[in-house]
Amino acid sequence: MGSHDKLATRALETDVPVMVKILELSEGAKDVMPLGKGAVYWNPPDEVLEKVKELACELSTSYYGTHEGLPELVEALTEKLHRENKLYKSSVMVTSGSNQGFLNVVLALCDVTDSVILFAPYFFNAYMSFKMTGINNILVGPTSSRTLQPDADWLEKILSEIKPVPKLVSLVNPGNPSGTIIPEPLLKRISDICRKAGSWLVVDNAYEYFTYDGLKHTCVEGKHVINLFSFSKAYGMMGWRVGYIAYSTEAEGLRTQFLKVQENVAICASIISQKVALCCLRYDNEWVRNQVRSLVKNRKAVLEALSPLGVESVMGGEGAIYLWVKLPNKYKDDAEVVRWLAHRHGVMLLPGNDCGAPGCVRITFGALREAECEIAAKRLKRGLEELLSHGMVW
Ligand SMILES: Cc1ncc(COP(=O)(O)O)c(C=O)c1O
Repeated sequence: MGSHDKLATRALETDVPVMVKILELSEGAKDVMPLGKGAVYWNPPDEVLEKVKELACELSTSYYGTHEGLPELVEALTEKLHRENKLYKSSVMVTSGSNQGFLNVVLALCDVTDSVILFAPYFFNAYMSFKMTGINNILVGPTSSRTLQPDADWLEKILSEIKPVPKLVSLVNPGNPSGTIIPEPLLKRISDICRKAGSWLVVDNAYEYFTYDGLKHTCVEGKHVINLFSFSKAYGMMGWRVGYIAYSTEAEGLRTQFLKVQENVAICASIISQKVALCCLRYDNEWVRNQVRSLVKNRKAVLEALSPLGVESVMGGEGAIYLWVKLPNKYKDDAEVVRWLAHRHGVMLLPGNDCGAPGCVRITFGALREAECEIAAKRLKRGLEELLSHGMVW
């Protein structure tokens, strides 16, 4: 028996994580600057980090916590959901990052025979969570080629035609990889379509504070809606692994299913991380908004670097930390372009094929401080100019 015969089909049929792929694509390249990784350059506030030793020494930090999260944190999050997100009937479960939150949702709601819906370009981790739980019937809906907004007409048609009705519709707002902010009327319309059809709507709000040019992020509430949130980007807590699920207090049975999944995946999110998250939450979201404001110059530098491609080729970026770029038509193999840019020009991007959109790339403008981002942007611009004038010469 070959070793592959001993491995799970659902794992074998799932693609390698794109973050592993981009490491492979840049293998052997020197001094590569990260415009591909979805990360921010900051840490949690200094005052919070200074409390960590004291928090670590508390007896409760080394003990198991409740499945739903530290009661003080759950209470503070419930209050935050009221005040900031206008979610008035939500229960909370704290998870080890919102990726785990999404997995909890999929395990609690979906059977392997269900169909689910994403819109391309989609968030690769959501796609992976479906594949890794054996859900292969993944319908990929279109987005506007100009704005990258999900096509609600298509959704309405598909949900009325397909029987059994798709179980779950997944959105990311502001978008990863698009950086597009879904306007409130469109979000409400999608929510209504899902409610009428009997599908769950799962909205990932990991970048809720990351909006630019005066645009606003909004949430929708409903018995059929599940909202996911994360501390990773807002408070620079990527390695601390704290996120949370906000789900309707009126959705019968859902809490019990979440408790079963939580017991089997994490038991509880790391207690020290939850305590740090609570300190961050008490800190004030103006701190986060200041951090986000510091990215405006990065975005400008990257937009300038993309100018050789023409404005029509650059999309999204009004929120989150991403710009979405269509490569010139002859470059269908986006991974090859990513490899070439890493090796020849020292910048790493993310291949669009892994988001269901070949011939495109995702660019992150959050992972570098301003001065470094300017250097990376200059490299990117030189690379794109060479791509357009001479092709992928080595
Ligand atoms: C849209 C989105 N959701 C979830 C995550 C993962 O967040 P966490 O670190 O909370 O698991 C990311 C990370 O890049 C993301 O972009």
